[in-house]
Amino acid sequence: MSLQLPVLLHGGDYNPEQWPEAVWLDDMRRMREAGCNAMTVGVFAWSALESSESVYTFGWLDRVMDLLHANGLKAVLATPSAAHPPWLSQQHPEVLRTAPDRVRHEHRVRVNYCLTSPVYRRACAAMATQLATRYGRHPALLLWHVSNEYHDDCHCVLCQQAFRDWLHAKYGTLDALNAAWDTRVWSHVYTDWRQVVSPQPWPAGEWSLLSLGLDWRRFVNDQSVACFLNEARVLRQITPSIPLTTNMHQATDGLMDWVRFAPHVDVVSWDNYPDYHADAGDPARALSVAFQHDFYRGLKRQPFLMMESNPGSGQGKRQKRPGILRLQSLQAIAHGSDSVQYFQWRNCRGGVEKFHGAVLNHDDRADTRVFQEVAALGRELATLGAVRGADVPADVALVYDREVHWALEYSTTARWDERDYVDTCLAHYAPLWRRGLNIDVVASTADFTPYRLVVAPLLYLLRPGVAEALTAFVRAGGVFATTYWSGGVDENDRAFAGGFPGPLRELLGVRSEELDGLDAGESNRVLPAGSDPHGLGTGVATRFCDVLHAEGAEVLASFGDAYYAGRPALTSHRMGAGEAFYLGGLFDGGLLDCVYALLLRRAGVPSTLPETPPAGVSVRSRNGADGRHLFLLNFAAEARTVAGVDAGARLICGSAEAGPAGWHLPAHGAAVLWSAK
Ligand code: GLA
Ligand code: GLA
Repeated sequence: MSLQLPVLLHGGDYNPEQWPEAVWLDDMRRMREAGCNAMTVGVFAWSALESSESVYTFGWLDRVMDLLHANGLKAVLATPSAAHPPWLSQQHPEVLRTAPDRVRHEHRVRVNYCLTSPVYRRACAAMATQLATRYGRHPALLLWHVSNEYHDDCHCVLCQQAFRDWLHAKYGTLDALNAAWDTRVWSHVYTDWRQVVSPQPWPAGEWSLLSLGLDWRRFVNDQSVACFLNEARVLRQITPSIPLTTNMHQATDGLMDWVRFAPHVDVVSWDNYPDYHADAGDPARALSVAFQHDFYRGLKRQPFLMMESNPGSGQGKRQKRPGILRLQSLQAIAHGSDSVQYFQWRNCRGGVEKFHGAVLNHDDRADTRVFQEVAALGRELATLGAVRGADVPADVALVYDREVHWALEYSTTARWDERDYVDTCLAHYAPLWRRGLNIDVVASTADFTPYRLVVAPLLYLLRPGVAEALTAFVRAGGVFATTYWSGGVDENDRAFAGGFPGPLRELLGVRSEELDGLDAGESNRVLPAGSDPHGLGTGVATRFCDVLHAEGAEVLASFGDAYYAGRPALTSHRMGAGEAFYLGGLFDGGLLDCVYALLLRRAGVPSTLPETPPAGVSVRSRNGADGRHLFLLNFAAEARTVAGVDAGARLICGSAEAGPAGWHLPAHGAAVLWSAK
């Protein structure tokens, strides 16, 4: 089910319950002035909607919904379950979250609910029933926004029992659980289900049994999905034609594995808060934001919504320079967003976020830089209606997998302080991003058949079926690449018999006998084989080097130093119609770029432009019915010229000018071009 709106969404979180009604009319006028068309209401409005059990106050929301409709605005209507009211905590302390140290929180902040409490679930379902019944047919209603940013676990007795039930359903018997977790180590064999408790940090609790930690996180995700479905079921039953989302966040942090949520939402949405002008530099920041957009689009391989972004600054971030708002917004659209939504429309006067960026600040003026940039963007988005729903076709997939990430965080290898999974994924994403290629960031359990090239750095944990799926992908003609420290453990964190790379050994045609950890400042030369037919040049590996045996793979480069000088560093193994590459070290950026040039050639991935765009410029494309939209995004603080765009391309919106050398973009400039097929 998709959104029924022929334009890109533009708007954001709107909290009229925090303001006297006199302000609302002003809000409506200014929303129109800013080119807004969809506002998110109700996210944290539980207190305003239900002042005590079953005492509802919907009059104000009735008027807000009517006002939105009368002003041509749609409502993304949220259920308020992310911030339950104090009276509920007081009446039923079981709804409160219990921390890993088993201490129950007091009523505090938000997202402070137990994931299992039947009282909390009943209260949420009752509220969802009220909202759906009352507003299900309201003409302003566009989309349900269930709760807000699921992200925490709860360790109360109810959750402990639910965890045991979950384990029981998964393993059937304690013997099976003991075997899967290999609890013989350090005498952890369980003889009664009640002995199993959730992990907690050192020193008080069980932190050493990593299999327990992995299952706990899976359980927490399933329990969060159950909370989501508790509300979604009601909404779907009463309003079957209204799509549903929940706003995701922290793709690469914390407890959530959004892959487990994705099948349950109609539209993926996420909250994007990049820290531009911080130390890493804007192009590096843009790269990591791009990666996250590609992750969220990859969840359903469909366009998504950017549900929140900061129109201004605040919350410890530098002021966005002029033009950055448009740049970060068009970046989202380029990667598949069908919206630019903000947190928030009007700055609240109280609470910790009162100086967070907002479209309207406390000065309540529309002649501010931020408001004017928002309004200008609103006019530009109105010219991009044809982008809505348009595909972002990707030939390349990069595997980033939460379960791999969790297992790596637990893993102990040489230089374990340095085996940063996200940084390594970004290092592999960079040569693809710089070339302007569309990339899907997907879990290891994704369907690989749509791709020509699949890259999975540090594929340390291998879930059942993944090696088989990758082998089938290669046999059918795909190109696959992975690195050192892949194929180490199964889904329960048990090391594979036979050593690295475990079940990937046959596909890769290599065996790793050791992984050497290099000290800071140390490196090992990587020398191309023979006369360097692939143009790899000479590079270096730092931090990690495999001591590798080729077992059928062709050696493309070897290490130059240490006791494994002359042993393979980069290999390729043909299987069926495809090829599997193994990178036996952490290669420097230049070498990695050459390896990627080779991978893309071998995979036959067509380039977006004849030449790689200049440094700091990101190029992306989104299909249309009869042509393509080309996005040119300059994250450099200097002007850039992009060469090689086809001559028939015309400017739809943005700040680029065609010249003899190509399209000229000012510093932080962004533009959308259209080429007919
Ligand atoms: C100590 C313990 C062993 C083992 C080693 C690991 O010596 O006695 O059981 O944990 O450390 O280095
Ligand atoms: C999150 C929340 C919002 C708001 C913003 C502030 O994304 O969903 O309610 O707190 O952070 O950046």
